Amino acid sequence: MTDELKKRISAAGQEHLLRFIGQLSPEELTAYTEQLAGVNWEELPRLAAEYVLNRPEISIPADLSPAKFFPLAPADSDMAELYARADAKGAELLKNGKVCCLTVAGGQGTRLGFDGPKGTYPIGPVTGRTLFSYFASSIARAQEKYGKPINWYIMTSPINRQATEEFFRKENFFGLSGENVFFFTQGTMPAFGTGGKLLMSSKSSLALSPDGHGGTLLALRKSGALDKMIADGNEYISYFQVDNPLVPVVSPRFIGMHALEESEMSAIMLSKTNSKEKLGNFCVSGGRTMIIEYSDLPDELAEKRNADGSLAFVAGSPAIHVLSRTFVEKLTSGGTLRLPWHRADKKIGCLDETGTYFTPEEPNGVKLESFIFDALPLANKVMILEGDRAEVFAPTKNATGVDSAESCREMLTARNARRLALAGVEIPRNNDGKVDAVIEIDPARVLDDEDAVGLVNALGLKKILAGEKVAL
Ligand code: UD1
Repeated sequence: MTDELKKRISAAGQEHLLRFIGQLSPEELTAYTEQLAGVNWEELPRLAAEYVLNRPEISIPADLSPAKFFPLAPADSDMAELYARADAKGAELLKNGKVCCLTVAGGQGTRLGFDGPKGTYPIGPVTGRTLFSYFASSIARAQEKYGKPINWYIMTSPINRQATEEFFRKENFFGLSGENVFFFTQGTMPAFGTGGKLLMSSKSSLALSPDGHGGTLLALRKSGALDKMIADGNEYISYFQVDNPLVPVVSPRFIGMHALEESEMSAIMLSKTNSKEKLGNFCVSGGRTMIIEYSDLPDELAEKRNADGSLAFVAGSPAIHVLSRTFVEKLTSGGTLRLPWHRADKKIGCLDETGTYFTPEEPNGVKLESFIFDALPLANKVMILEGDRAEVFAPTKNATGVDSAESCREMLTARNARRLALAGVEIPRNNDGKVDAVIEIDPARVLDDEDAVGLVNALGLKKILAGEKVAL
C-alpha cells in the first residue's frame, strides 16, 4: 500500500482502517489496497458530516405541487387520437428493435425474508414460476410478437451477481438467447458507523453495501451496457423492479407516449389508494418533476384534498419508467453522476476495535443509497402516464399482508381471470366477487388481452370450475 494512499485515508479521518494491515497475507493486502484505492477519500468527510453526524433535513420546497399526468382514459378526442398514435409508435419502435428492458435486481429482499436473489422467488400461484421467469417469458412473447430480439439488462449487486447468473444458466435462460441477456453489477458504498468512521467487515475489507438503484445509471456506463445499447440500436430503456411480476415488460403505449412527447425520462403513475400508501409521490417544484418518497412527504401534504375530496397528491409511483438512452449517456458522460444520497440506519455486522466480528442487536451504522427517480428533475422533459393498477402492479415486498407474495398471487389470478372472461370463459366467483379458483397463465403464451383471446380459442376453454387450480 502506498504512503500516498495511507495519507489520503488518514486525512479523511479514517486511519483506523489501517489498524490490521500488518496481519494480512500479501494477497489480502493487495485486494484490500485495491478496494481502498476505489474510495473517494476527499469526498468522505463531507458525506460523514452531512449524512451521518447530522441527520439531513428533508427539505420540501415551498412551491411543491402535484405533478400533471396523462389519465388512463383519454379526456377528449384529441387525447384519444394521441393515445392511438402512441400505440402505433410504440409497436413500430418495438418492431424496429429500438427498445430494451432493464430490471433492477440488486436489492436484498430482507422484508420478504427470502434467502437468495429476489428474482428467484417462486411467485407463480400454481406452478411456483419465479419472478425472473415471469419477466423472461414475457420478453420471449414480446420478441415473438414484434419480431425482433429484445435485449434484457439485469442489474445485480456484488452480493447476488453470481447466484443470479447461476440461476439463469440452470434455467437455460428460460428459453431466451444468452446473447440477449446482459448482467451488470451496481456500485457499492462503504457503510459508516454512527460516529462517522467507516466500518470493516473483515481485517481486509470495508463493510460495503449496494449503492441503491440510483447506481444503475453509472453502472450502465461502466459495465459497457450503454455501448452495447448503442451498437444494437436500442434507443429506449423499459425499466422495472424485480418485485413486480404484473409489470408490462414493454408497453407500446407508454413507450410511444415517451417518444411522441420527446420525454427524456417517463413514469407510470397509479392513483394512491390512501394518503399513507407506501408509494413515492410525483410532485413538481420550480418546473421540475420529482418523486418525494412516502416516508418524506409531510402529513399535511399527504392528507391535502381537492374540492371533490380526492387526494391532491394522488400520483404514486410503481417504479416503472422509460428512459431515453441518450439521457443516460448525457447524465454519465464524464464517468460520474452525482445524485443525492439517502440515509438508512441499519444493523451492520462489523469488526470491533480488537478485530472481532460482531452482529449488532440495534442499528449501529448508516448506509447511503441513491435513487434512480432522483434523475427525474435532471430531465428536460418528463412524461407521466396513468396505469391501471390491477393490470400493472402487484409488488412482492413482504411475506404476508399488504404488498406481499400472498396479495401478489391473488392479483395474478384476478388479472388472468379478467383476461379469460374477456375471451368468453366462465369464471367462478365468491359472493364478494373474488375469483373462486387459482389461475396461472404462462406469460410466454399471453402478454396481453389479445393473446388471451388467441389462447382461449386454441384451447377451446369454456369454463373454470369453482375451487379449481389451473395452469395454462
Ligand atoms: C420502491 C420505491 C418507491 C416505489 C415502490 C414501488 C425506492 C426508494 N422507492 O420502494 O418509490 O413507490 O418501490 O414498488 O426505490 N434495488 C437495487 N439496488 C439497490 C437497492 C434496490 O437494484 O441497491 C432494487 C431492488 O432489487 C428492487 C428495487 O430496487 O427491485 C426497489 O427497491 P426497494 O428497496 O424494494 O424499494 P421500496 O422501498 O420497496
